[in-house]
Amino acid sequence: MTKLVATIKGVYGYVPADVLSNKDLEQMVDTNDEWIRSRTGISERRILKDPSLASSDLGLEAVKGLLEKTNTDLSEIDLLICCTATPDMLFPATANLISGKLGLKDTPSFDIGAACSGFIYGLSVAKQFVENGAYKKVVLVGAEKMSSIVDYTDRSHCIIFGDGAGAVLIEATEEETGIIDILLKSDGVGSKHLHQKAGGSLNPATLETVQNKEHFIHQEGAAVFKFAVTKMAEISAQIMERNNLTPENLDWFVPHQANKRIIDAAQRRMGLPDEKVMLNIQKFGNTTSATIPLCLWEWEDKLKKGDNLVLSAFGGGFTWAAAYLKWSY
Ligand code: COA
Repeated sequence: MTKLVATIKGVYGYVPADVLSNKDLEQMVDTNDEWIRSRTGISERRILKDPSLASSDLGLEAVKGLLEKTNTDLSEIDLLICCTATPDMLFPATANLISGKLGLKDTPSFDIGAACSGFIYGLSVAKQFVENGAYKKVVLVGAEKMSSIVDYTDRSHCIIFGDGAGAVLIEATEEETGIIDILLKSDGVGSKHLHQKAGGSLNPATLETVQNKEHFIHQEGAAVFKFAVTKMAEISAQIMERNNLTPENLDWFVPHQANKRIIDAAQRRMGLPDEKVMLNIQKFGNTTSATIPLCLWEWEDKLKKGDNLVLSAFGGGFTWAAAYLKWSY
């Protein structure tokens, strides 16, 4: 029997219309456009302004677009996975909420929390379900309303994050394409450098936690940066080596868009020219688990069947991950 390999059969992205530019941020905190661009590579990001909408609504738009584009009927979806660090609520899962809004009935859905590495962690889970024959069509969506946990009076992190969602359809193929290899890593040492202090079972919400701004992102930028630079470069090189990929036969690098300098370090380690690196950090900033599918969505026209792609990410936890894909359409 031919071995089934899971593959991406379609991709769709969604970002809210409102733009928050570096110039806008200059009015809000003590920063400037030149500093932000040179330290991060970001010029603007999208923000979901409507307070009645959340991550599930961004995810819903991405999934609806994906289903329409791939002519997929709701009845064909076997599983919906959402990766998010900004769930609408602690429970139910944002995947359940997206499923409900889509009108899915009896279809399993759950969330994956691996912060910025969420999409690659999600790919690894979808891959198992498809390759063991349990499910035929899996929808994987990264959806983030990062603006809901950003303190717009804190210049150390408000410049980085943006809102958005990206979704992929994963199915089996018998061709020589697909999600070939995945590497996943984590190290709890990172929790002290990047977390949201309150709102969970450790520090439930109180008047005090709100007054102390403990429901926003706590980020020690320099410590995160140091770890991210090393680990994202290391795992990207590792997945190349173990799959005999070289700067010549690797067609695309799809990095998590956290900071252009982190991407540059990985690119250098991999020995890749600029034209092989997908970048959209300048317009969307760091949308956490949505960055990679948003890149794939924007570059989809340029991808050819058989192209070799390396995806890699680093995020809170710490978590980091890489995937080797042979594009299948
Ligand atoms: N505008 C202007 N100056 C700023 C600033 C801003 N938005 N943010 C910080 N600064 C200042 C600091 O106060 C500091 O000033 P000082 O030297 O007078 O004390 C100086 O710039 C350097 O601060 P530092 O935090 O060392 O800057 P950095 O070069 O590390 O850049 C980040 C800050 C946040 C951009 C960077 O650390 C980063 O990208 N970290 C990783 C974040 C990340 O990827 N998070 C998501 C995980 S995937």
